[in-house]
Amino acid sequence: MPELFPDTTSVENGEIHVGGVRLTALADEHGTPLLVLCERTLRARAQAYRAAAPDALVVYGTKAFPNVAVLRTLAAEGLGADVSTLGELRFALAAGVAGERLVVHGNNKDDEELAEAARVGALVVVDSLDEVPRAERADVERTLVRVTLGVEADTHESIRTGHVGSKFGLPPTQALEAIERLRPLGLHVHIGSQLTSAEAARETIDRLASFAAECRDELGWVAQVVDLGGGLAVRTSPDDPAPPPVAEFVRSLLEQVEPAWRASGLPAPRLILEPGRSLVGPAGVTLYRVGLVKRAESVTYAAIDGGMSDNPRPQLYGARYTALLANRADEPPSGTFRIAGKHCESGDVLIDRVELPEPVRGDLLAVPASGAYTLAMASNYNGVPRPAAVLVADGRARLARRRETVDDLLRLET
Ligand code: LLP
Repeated sequence: MPELFPDTTSVENGEIHVGGVRLTALADEHGTPLLVLCERTLRARAQAYRAAAPDALVVYGTKAFPNVAVLRTLAAEGLGADVSTLGELRFALAAGVAGERLVVHGNNKDDEELAEAARVGALVVVDSLDEVPRAERADVERTLVRVTLGVEADTHESIRTGHVGSKFGLPPTQALEAIERLRPLGLHVHIGSQLTSAEAARETIDRLASFAAECRDELGWVAQVVDLGGGLAVRTSPDDPAPPPVAEFVRSLLEQVEPAWRASGLPAPRLILEPGRSLVGPAGVTLYRVGLVKRAESVTYAAIDGGMSDNPRPQLYGARYTALLANRADEPPSGTFRIAGKHCESGDVLIDRVELPEPVRGDLLAVPASGAYTLAMASNYNGVPRPAAVLVADGRARLARRRETVDDLLRLET
């Protein structure tokens, strides 16, 4: 099986298949760029979380790819959803996720978001002192308080959230004040995303146990629920460091919570986990059609029909991806190519260097491990409509999101 591709990937006569479906057939039917999601991989990742933490509530970090079909698939595996805007909340409700399995985030929730969260009985993660009276006024009944414990996660600074000075959560003294007023159900932490080890999370758990003991000693309040956030990394290039498997990552968190809580003399809390990327990322393969192939001095560009409008992660976080030609996957590489997007700037490069057989116009480029934070962050830069997504399983494909058209965009214009 080609590296980093979904669990069900196979190569037959040079053609890559995922979920029993030939990728070139999907591209012909649905057009490109196209996000192909392997349902079996998605379910297997959800099952891995559930098996590793059978007593925890696992909620999908919807921001990784807000999609009703994905939310519905994950709900069928027993997952709830972590949502951070009214839009994501509506997506989760549209997928039939029950209010009591919803965790509502946001560092700047508006009144409508709080009211909707209250109406559906979601668990609201209070992110600031300002939100305490606002949550009360909105009749939010179930809350957690997000505390920022000053741990620096080893990840890109844009996706680090638990450090001193973070825009998220309350520093411990303010958190105590919020807890005194709200008497919430419990505590929340999330230190960052794309974590390649559990080290910073374990450090956070120790600090959280001390903080929970302080709450008991000073306020006589005991956290019944502890939400440990998400964050497990996904490798998108063979050059990326390998994160631990889901089971191992979750085990190292649970193995930290148990003794830390015992040492603080606190009863074991009910846990919530909020994985996003590690559920949907490895399930996704993005397909692009190769257009222009151009030699420019020492580099050869293969230009594709997408780019930073459907995957801005290389520009935002220096993310590296890899690719194969889905229609010529049995041919050995003939050189190193730079995969450029179609947007009007030189920085629109999806992959700086990848070894491929000499690409030609019409080839189908398949980029694995691209299910998370790609289409989720897509834009209409250069008036480009956003791609479609399909779920594949057992030889069948179903549309998970239709392709936008230029007419869709024109309808918003006056
Ligand atoms: N919970 C909270 C409170 C979060 O803020 C996030 C992600 C998650 C859970 C899910 O984290 P995950 O398991 O996916 O790492 N656009 C960036 C990632 C932003 C993450 C935002 N928060 C990227 O493309 O790398």
